[in-house]
Amino acid sequence: MNHPILEDLQWRYTTKRYDKTQKVAPEALAVLLEALRLSASSINSQPWRFIVLESDEAKARMLCAVAEKYPFNQPAVLDSSHVILFAYHPHYHREAYAEVVDGGIADGRILAAKREEAFGAFRFAEMNMDETGDNSAWTRAQTYLALGNALHTLARLRIDSTTMEGIDIEAIQVEFAKELGDYRCAVALAIGYRHPQEDWNATLPKSRRRPEDIFVHLV
Ligand SMILES: Cc1cc2nc3c(=O)[nH]c(=O)nc-3n(C[C@H](O)[C@H](O)[C@H](O)COP(=O)(O)O)c2cc1C
Repeated sequence: MNHPILEDLQWRYTTKRYDKTQKVAPEALAVLLEALRLSASSINSQPWRFIVLESDEAKARMLCAVAEKYPFNQPAVLDSSHVILFAYHPHYHREAYAEVVDGGIADGRILAAKREEAFGAFRFAEMNMDETGDNSAWTRAQTYLALGNALHTLARLRIDSTTMEGIDIEAIQVEFAKELGDYRCAVALAIGYRHPQEDWNATLPKSRRRPEDIFVHLV
């Protein structure tokens, strides 16, 4: 089957070794960040924050998250061009949603007269909330939509990437406490360009479950 979307998805893979000398151009990074911003989320909640680590100094701050427990991710952190931390708000509350509603009014999507009505959608955040106001399972899921969007955007840009759940979240929360604020890191994404010789994963064939094992198609 041939299609440009499938070519993108066949092209991409999880890069294990980067060419340290190649940086992602600012224009391409801007496209990626705009794609992240445009990601879909339940009730348009956008309960996320993305911390972009660009300089060697900034990326070195992530060493605490990989050096001990997840050394296999260390090369991606140190030799990639950028690392992006995907963070979610674990207690997404009505005031946070007010920013979305008021943004919708400013953008002409919601009528000012219907402001209160627009808060009706917030019941989805409440349905996923426990008695302490924690709706982190729901907000965390939204950040993975942005992650999926990023992976395809990067493939289209022919920029390599490494998704990393193998990071010490507690260490990240401490090291990036100021930048994360109320947000909690879910996953990190290294981006850059594969090492032409050292990335063994680049030449392995893609392997996925068979269509008949995953699709139930009612026609
Ligand atoms: C949520 C998530 C977490 C992952 N964490 C890691 C990780 O910590 N380190 C790593 O090298 N690969 C990680 N991967 C990469 C997966 O192992 C990889 O996507 C999968 O084996 C499919 O291979 P492909 O991405 O090369 O097509 C992660 C992928 C996802 C989607």
